Amino acid sequence: LQRLEYRGYDSAVAPPSTRAAKNMCGIVAYCGNAQAADILVAGLQRLEYRGYDSAGVAIIQKSEDSGGKQESKRQKSAAPKADGAEAKIKICKQAGKVANLAKACENSDVKGTLGIAHTRWATHGPPTDRNSHPHVSCDGKIAVVHNGIVENFAALKTKLEGLGYKMASDTDTELIAHLIYDVRKKKAMPLEEAVRQALTQVHGAFGLGVVCADEPDILIGARRGSPLILGIGDDEYVLASDASAVIERTRRVTYLNDGDMVVITRGAGYQIKSLDGVKLIREVQELEMSLQEIQKGEFKHFMLKEICEQPEVLENCMRGRLNHDTGDINLGGLTPYLQRIIAAPRIIICACGTSWHAALTGEYMIENLAKIPVEVEYASEFRYRNPVLYKSDVVVAVSQSGETADTLAAISLAKKHGCLTVGICNTVGSTIARETDCGVYLHAGPEIGVASTKAFTAQICVMCMIALKLLKEKGDDSTADFKKKLKALAALPDKVRKVLEEKEKVLNMSRVFRYASNFLYLGRGFNFPVALEGALKLKEISYIHAEGYPAAEMKHGPIALIDQFMPVVVIAPCNDPNAEKLQSNIEEVLARGGSVIAISDETKNEDLERKCEYVVHVPNTEEFLMPLLTVIPLQLMSYYIADMRQCNVDQPRNLAKSVTVE
Ligand code: M6R
Repeated sequence: LQRLEYRGYDSAVAPPSTRAAKNMCGIVAYCGNAQAADILVAGLQRLEYRGYDSAGVAIIQKSEDSGGKQESKRQKSAAPKADGAEAKIKICKQAGKVANLAKACENSDVKGTLGIAHTRWATHGPPTDRNSHPHVSCDGKIAVVHNGIVENFAALKTKLEGLGYKMASDTDTELIAHLIYDVRKKKAMPLEEAVRQALTQVHGAFGLGVVCADEPDILIGARRGSPLILGIGDDEYVLASDASAVIERTRRVTYLNDGDMVVITRGAGYQIKSLDGVKLIREVQELEMSLQEIQKGEFKHFMLKEICEQPEVLENCMRGRLNHDTGDINLGGLTPYLQRIIAAPRIIICACGTSWHAALTGEYMIENLAKIPVEVEYASEFRYRNPVLYKSDVVVAVSQSGETADTLAAISLAKKHGCLTVGICNTVGSTIARETDCGVYLHAGPEIGVASTKAFTAQICVMCMIALKLLKEKGDDSTADFKKKLKALAALPDKVRKVLEEKEKVLNMSRVFRYASNFLYLGRGFNFPVALEGALKLKEISYIHAEGYPAAEMKHGPIALIDQFMPVVVIAPCNDPNAEKLQSNIEEVLARGGSVIAISDETKNEDLERKCEYVVHVPNTEEFLMPLLTVIPLQLMSYYIADMRQCNVDQPRNLAKSVTVE
């Protein structure tokens, strides 16, 4: 087994139950007058991009709620022995997509107007009915949904098993249900207090929804590390991991802070308290999101919709911020901090995944334009590698969701060292947006497809504006060249529209390459991060292996991979200062039998056309703005190839939109 372990090592290394559960799931909970199951399932459908392994609901059913139907196989009463009890908890849960759960709920009689629900993304404990949330206490009277990770899982489990509790699943969440039960039983206390006391024993991150059959009019939510937002409607409340699950019921929301607990009591409103029981006041805000933004409309997938939205996304991102006539850039959130930023010896940008690629583009832009040294860090490395940080450093977090655990931890570390922290986030009210000293929102609208597209271009657009603003703040904006750059930036949405007109060509090209098993992406300068991003997009959604490299690095290793089966995507604009070098790289690929797909500009180049299997042209623009155009054909190609290979484009296997645990 030791020799064969490289072939699979899930169960030989440690039984699942001894390993920590990690999940980045979606929670929704409802308390009101409508049937909770319908609202919860609709909410889960909106949250499904956060996790799609399995889903479930728990509804408090009072005697007046229950219909006459028989219980189905899938749907169990969790409190069969609640003799004479007024209410019981009905659970319906299913492995697989929310659609499965929706069907199961339709065929069952989960009736009631208060409940909790969950859609799961798991790396531990198979996605079975048994491991699906909600999880219940041993008497079936307490149900819990949880997003996060119980870090002292092993110790708690041993303790609870020692007390005689039997585990019904492999999950860490179940422990929370038993803990609440244990505290409540021993001290005969109300649910609210029992949850509070139970949570003192839990180490790690949680976003939590809790209900109890003995207190059937109470819904409890709590958070530490995982997001929770409370929607406040007319006589109804929706608690959810993000706004998309709330918007159909209400636009009035309050964002819970880390360490907050909310207790919703039917007929008596809600109260937010700290986990220590201190009453808190939290601002109620109006959601800016529209329902249309979270619907697919005429598009086959969210990803395609989001790729096609990019011209408007860039317009929204620049609206009210950029004025190329006056040469003004207004980034309100940064204004009070600009002097500190230009005086900083360096800017450190932390991010993960696609946001890291945008950060790398940001490094090239800020160093080129504003001449301030920039370092780009993987947030997951930065947080643990004990970096040298000075108070004078500026640490920027780039994150679409604003909830990525590693990026958030990088910010906490920077704060501990007294650095100025800046957030570049898309999700309004997200944790990173709130934890940083200042920041810039992307205004890209909700991004539902797990593969990030429009957020990437909006992140780069924000990076451009920041670089230009810093240049201006340093007093280097007097030249005609500065205004020319602003003008070029303002002209980008129309240029992106033009690239999108190439859709058909990219579709045909994708048809040719859809069966390839490996791709290489090459770029130089500002287009190197685009090569990385192109490769990541293809990997994520089509499961084709792809690598991104700086073009010059090819001969230091990856060239060994090139043969007639290896398509090589070269981002090679002809008016690039490195154009000749890129042409040489193309020659090197061709000499080894590789096929080249070139992403170039509008400059005529017959030689390129002749040599490459495909050339996709994007409009000419300033060199530093090229990534905003060259990435679009790569996004489209990944999309078409994945769709042709019948992959689940919006919900690729094993991924989740918001990585809220490390
Ligand atoms: O929400 P964030 O931007 O912080 O997320 C970071 C990454 O998890 C994310 O970009 C991931 O790589 C996407 N799946 C990319 O398409």
